Order: sequence, then C-alpha cells, then structure tokens
Amino acid sequence: MFRIIRGFAINVPLKTTPSPDTGDLPLDEFRARANELVAWIADYLGHPERYPVLPPLVPGATLAALPTAPPDDGEPMRKILDGFERDIVPRLTHWNHPGFLAYFANTASVPGILGELLATALNSNAMLWRTGPAAAELEQLTTDWIRQLIGLQPGWFGMITDLASTSTLYALAAAREADPALDIRRKGLAGRDLPTLRVYCSDQAHSSVQKAAMTLGIGSDNVVTVESDAEFRMKPDALQAAITADRAAGYRPIAVVGVLGTTSTTSVDPLDAIADIAEREQLWYHVDAAYAGVAGAVPEMRHHFTGLDRADSVVVNPHKWLFTPMDCSVFLTRRPEALKRAFSLVAAYLETAEQDTVLNYMDYGFQLGHRFRALKLWMVIRAFGARGIADRIRHHCAMAQEFAGWVRSEAASGWGVEAPHPFSVVCFRHDTGGSLAESNAHNARILDRVNASGEVFLSHTVLRGRYVLRVAIGNLRTDRGHLARAWALLQQAAGATAPAPG
Ligand SMILES: Cc1ncc(COP(=O)(O)O)c(C=O)c1O
Repeated sequence: MFRIIRGFAINVPLKTTPSPDTGDLPLDEFRARANELVAWIADYLGHPERYPVLPPLVPGATLAALPTAPPDDGEPMRKILDGFERDIVPRLTHWNHPGFLAYFANTASVPGILGELLATALNSNAMLWRTGPAAAELEQLTTDWIRQLIGLQPGWFGMITDLASTSTLYALAAAREADPALDIRRKGLAGRDLPTLRVYCSDQAHSSVQKAAMTLGIGSDNVVTVESDAEFRMKPDALQAAITADRAAGYRPIAVVGVLGTTSTTSVDPLDAIADIAEREQLWYHVDAAYAGVAGAVPEMRHHFTGLDRADSVVVNPHKWLFTPMDCSVFLTRRPEALKRAFSLVAAYLETAEQDTVLNYMDYGFQLGHRFRALKLWMVIRAFGARGIADRIRHHCAMAQEFAGWVRSEAASGWGVEAPHPFSVVCFRHDTGGSLAESNAHNARILDRVNASGEVFLSHTVLRGRYVLRVAIGNLRTDRGHLARAWALLQQAAGATAPAPG
C-alpha cells in the first residue's frame, strides 16, 4: 500500500483470517493498517498535487478495473488498500486539492478528519437521546455554537442533517405543517378539498427548493421563482406582487426562501425586506445560507446578515465553508414544534421513560438513525476557534477580491467580472467581440482547456444567458500561487481558443 506516495515498511505480519474471538479482523492488523493510513493521509494532504485535481474523464473506467463479483473469501487488507490506491484514488476528483476552485470549494481539515474517524469507530446512533446521550447533547451544543458564530440571538433549535437539500426539505415540511388545519401529515395532499400550496424564492435560488417541493407533493410548478435585480438579489416588490396575485387566484402561499449566498454568484437577498413580507403574509421564512452562513463569523461581513434573525429557519453547511468533511449541514429553527408536528411518530419499540424530558432527534426528521456528525464539527470549531475561523474566511475573501482585480486589470484584452463578489467566489468571462453564442462557446472551451491541465478545476454558471466562469475559494490549502497559476492558465487558454478574427 502507498507505494506511489511514500513506500512503506511493515513489521507486523499479515493476518487475513478473522479473529476467532470476534469475527472482526485482529486488532494488531487494525493498528498496523491504521498507522499506515494515517501516514498516507498526511502525505496526501501535504502533496495533493501528485494527483490531477480532475482525473481523466473516462466513463466506466473504474468499473472496468474492478472485479464484477464480490470475493468468495476475505482478502488481505493490504491488498484491498493497494487496490484503493491503484484503482480508486487516481480516478477521483480531488476536492481536497488546493487547485479545486469549482462549485463551492471546501476542505476536509485535520480536526474534521479525526472527528470523522472517531465517529465511525464509535458508530453512535443518536436516534434517541438514550442511544447516544453525549452525541445528542453535543449536537445541541455545536449547533448552538453555529448560531452564535453567525450572530443569531438565543432561542433557536439546532439539528445536524446530511445536506442543505435535506435541511431545506425539513423547512418546507415544517411550513406545510405550520397550519394544523391543513393536516397534511395525516390526510396527505391528494383527493382533498385543499388550495394549491405555493412557495417563493428568487430565480437565483438553489434547485434544492424545487426538489423539496417535488418530494413534499407541493410540486415544482408551485415554486414561484421571483425575479432578481441587476445584482442577482430577489426583488421584494416582485415577491409581494406574486403573493398577491396568487392569493387572488386562490392559491395558498406557505413559505418563502431567501438566500444568503446564492449558488451562481453568492448574491444576498434583501433578508430584512423579505422578512417584512413573510411576517405580513404569515409565511414560513427559510433562509438558505448553506455556503455563506459561515461568513457571519467575520464581524465586518455581518451587514449581509441583517434580517436573518427574523427567519423561521436557516441552513448553514459546515461541509461547505467551515472546513468540515462531507457531510454536515446545520438546520436551525425558531419553531421546532412545527418540525416535530411534521415528523414525530413514536413506535412502541422506540418509547423511552425519559422521552418527554430529552431531545430525541428522530422526532424532528423522516430518518430514524442519526449519525454522530456533531463530533467532527465540535473538533473543527474547537481546533480553529471563532477568531481562527473568521481569519480563514477573511483570507479566502481577500484572495477572491485580488483575483477579481487581476481580471479587471485585463479589461482591454476582453476579460470582465460578471457579478458582484461579496465573499470568496468570482464570476467572470472573456469576450472576443463576437456574438453571444460564440462568446459562450469560447468560454466553455477555455474552461475545458484549463480543467484538462489537472492543475486547477473551475466550474461555470449561466447568468442571463451569458456563460460565465467561476473561481470559488474554500480550501484551506489554496494560496495566492494557485490562483496566479489558474489565472495564467485562463489567459493562455483564452489566447489558444479565441475564434480566428473575421
Ligand atoms: C445556496 C445553496 N443551497 C443549497 C445547496 C445544496 O447543498 P447540499 O449539497 O448540501 O444539499 C447548495 C449547493 O451548492 C447551494 O449552493
């Protein structure tokens, strides 16, 4: 194992037969392999550039390299780990590579990796408080730390889910149940005399809002996408007009989703103005701060958060910009009773003597089992501290501003920044003076060429018909040098792929 990166020397004899006592592999085997693994991980984190950030994209290559049937007899861990290094690692996209600048770049940091390792070893399942008392209470504590980090007042209930998509689904499930008269939990939506439910978000909101509506039976057509302004922020007037028109047409508005850090440009909806409307119209107000929520740890960025405290629920993803390994999404709500009304169902075999006095997380979601994600989050926050987190976020934002400056400085050669960049993402493109379609194709070619380098990986978005490149900074190991290299590759690619004049 690990010949590619470091070579190895192992004194412990290989044992492949299960321990007669337990059926598991022997613990001296575990110690040996675990020591190797930790050394491998440290080398990997220290030299991630040994692998291309984006692997050669050959569909089916991994499947073709692996046996199609499971082994009849157990194989030595050494052989399995060799296979991992040979067949799996080179075909992965390396999210922990500092040249990863696509989507929302993120980090599996050292404290996060250690926390994940321990959580796996403990295999705790806090579905009930008694099946993981410390896990459940640590989750209460760490989600409250997130609340404090982002500047919300006390009084929020917190829960960790896998993904923001789940957290937003929970928000809309609670919104659907917030009016007990609808009684959808019991009677469902179909074949009843119910008005059609409506949910509102801007045309820049993440597709998870539609997916939640699809899953909950609200229907994607009933997610009304409200126009955004020139800076990609929801227009409150357009929101109000849409709600008024829907009410007049007999629809039943139930929720509005504001976004703090949209997926394409990281724009921030006018949270306070939306809160006014949500309050007036008695809608559940959910704020998707999956990416940018952590920026609330930076005092000079708190102005983006005005109005957040008025939300009914908020999602912040530590696995995006809080250096926590996938997956970890924090769902906060001021109205946990609506969430509980949506989901609590206590089967006889899950009843406990203390159920009325403790927090059983199974009561607040559709899943029973509850992974111990709080452990890694606790370790990350403790290891970096509030000030350390703020410094890291601030640094990422400063690098993004510098990158935007480089792009702007080449305006004469066709480069331009395409959207405001309040956080650590910059949207930009290169124009050749041709038609929109030609320019779009040109930028797509630039992206392909840069990504084929294996040194950096960027992604794109489309803003009002314009194909736009994105640089997203979120990995702790990304430094100015990686950005400078990305910029050099972009400029080379623009020169190499520009359409011939005339
Ligand atoms: C603003 C926003 N919300 C939600 C999501 C969905 O996140 P997840 O993958 O955790 O479901 C994303 C993903 O990038 C996002 O950008």
